[in-house]
Amino acid sequence: MSEEVFRSPKKRGRFAVFLSGRGSNFMAIHKAVQAGGIDADIGLVFSNKREAPGYLYAQEHGLETLYLYYKKFDSREAYDARLAEEINKRDIDLIVLAGYMRIITAPFCHEFKNRIINIHPALLPAFPGLHVQQQAIDWGVRFSGATVHFVTAEVDMGPIILQAAVPVHQDDTEDTLAARILKEEHQIYPEAVKLFFDGRLEVRDRRVFILPEDT
Ligand code: GAR
Repeated sequence: MSEEVFRSPKKRGRFAVFLSGRGSNFMAIHKAVQAGGIDADIGLVFSNKREAPGYLYAQEHGLETLYLYYKKFDSREAYDARLAEEINKRDIDLIVLAGYMRIITAPFCHEFKNRIINIHPALLPAFPGLHVQQQAIDWGVRFSGATVHFVTAEVDMGPIILQAAVPVHQDDTEDTLAARILKEEHQIYPEAVKLFFDGRLEVRDRRVFILPEDT
């Protein structure tokens, strides 16, 4: 079978951010955009929670925002179909999941293949799912960290773009480990978005190659 190859577009683009909570990763990315470090604009901030601090921050900063109330939809598929329509209306090149805690349906993942990225607070494929910092402590691993990856229909399984490792200390709690990992998230997530819009990400099956600058 021939290898499937995707290369991220090298152009000034637009991306959407999906979030459900605090939004610190979104804020780190927003700051990088404002500082001119990412060759793209934020075209939409979407939340499934209207009161999410990240969502309020987006409104305060004059970004375009959208909230969809799940009870107004008959199914997850209907919710995501509407969301896809909203994305397609806005000429969005990339969807950045930043603490978006709703499972994305398979049709949405397929429609935006290679155009959705996520950050996860563990070194995938170890510890997918929820409460992963506690899982890492309970397992006794010496290192954990953060992973930025492309999103596929299998949760937390898509091709890995960047990772950062941190030590796990014997006296760590879920909160102290989460804080150590979060610091790294704020470094690697803006970096991954930058690499995407610099046209430097090449996906070959499940491996992501970071191309040299100016190729
Ligand atoms: C981050 O730690 C992110 O890695 C995690 O939620 C937190 C959101 O924080 N995401 C997941 O667990 C996804 N499976 P933030 O709202 O401050 O960016």
